[in-house]
Amino acid sequence: MKTISILGCGWLGKALADALLKKGYAVNGSVRSEKKRDALKAIGITPYVLQVENTEILGDFKSFLSAADIIITAFPPGIRRNPNANYAARIKQVLASLPSHSNCKCLHLSSIGVFGATQGEVNESTKPEPDRNVGTQLLEAEKAVIAFDTNATIVRLGGLVGNARHPVKQLAGKTGLASAMAPTNLVHQIDVIAFLLAVIDKNLWGQTFHCVSPLHQLRGEFYTQECIENGLPLPQFLSGKSNRSKKVLDTKSAEVFGFKYQLARCRFKDC
Ligand SMILES: NC(=O)c1ccc[n+]([C@@H]2O[C@H](COP(=O)([O-])OP(=O)(O)OC[C@H]3O[C@@H](n4cnc5c(N)ncnc54)[C@H](OP(=O)(O)O)[C@@H]3O)[C@@H](O)[C@H]2O)c1
Repeated sequence: MKTISILGCGWLGKALADALLKKGYAVNGSVRSEKKRDALKAIGITPYVLQVENTEILGDFKSFLSAADIIITAFPPGIRRNPNANYAARIKQVLASLPSHSNCKCLHLSSIGVFGATQGEVNESTKPEPDRNVGTQLLEAEKAVIAFDTNATIVRLGGLVGNARHPVKQLAGKTGLASAMAPTNLVHQIDVIAFLLAVIDKNLWGQTFHCVSPLHQLRGEFYTQECIENGLPLPQFLSGKSNRSKKVLDTKSAEVFGFKYQLARCRFKDC
């Protein structure tokens, strides 16, 4: 039985852990506080309390990794909440702590935030040109992952929806919203989990993938329609032009492992 250690069992990491357990993997999972530990244990995850800081890792990281065949990095940059957070430094520390002698694989969950908002249509071969600090850090972290181990795989996730999470909840009833004509780059949790399970099951290491729904809708139209269908107050978008053109394409997964998105419309009613 393979052991998978998920660093960050939050909204996505915990659901992924659950799916891996159901497939027969043993799963170590981490949260940052003692009070969340029991919730992991309750679904069969071997729980750890770990916190990756800029210059140290708090908790028993050694034991978390000792039997791991795969480590999945599933914690966000956290810069919005803590402007002093240095995500790239944190990922570098995680990598430096991995046992170099072992065959432990690394599945690094990154973000389409590595691309700048005005980069237009981009695919896995496009050079990311981040235009925000968080994007620069995400990219630096990716480079560290690739430099550490050529067998590591990076999955850049689109905006996550599902399981009670959807941007329409924040946008409903808001006024003065920009970028009505910008494409959406969303992906449903159910598709993300199926995607990551396939990467693991099929041993797809040493790759960079985009996990983003192939249906890119116009922000203004999409969120207005979602509000109408769900009886929410309508959002008001500004009419002027916007240069937010980023459209992130997944041009690999269908070809490499026959992946099909099941919930490509990313509708609120499916969350
Ligand atoms: N949200 C999005 O739309 C989006 C888009 C693209 C990519 N992603 C990526 O998807 C992954 C999962 O995101 P998510 O939405 O599931 O995040 P989340 O719900 O915020 O969960 C993050 C988990 O990581 C833990 N954590 C946070 N900071 C940590 C640190 N410094 N050291 C150790 N553990 C830490 C949290 O612990 P506690 O449970 O104790 O808080 C939590 O368990 C991340 O890699 C993120 O960058 C997300």
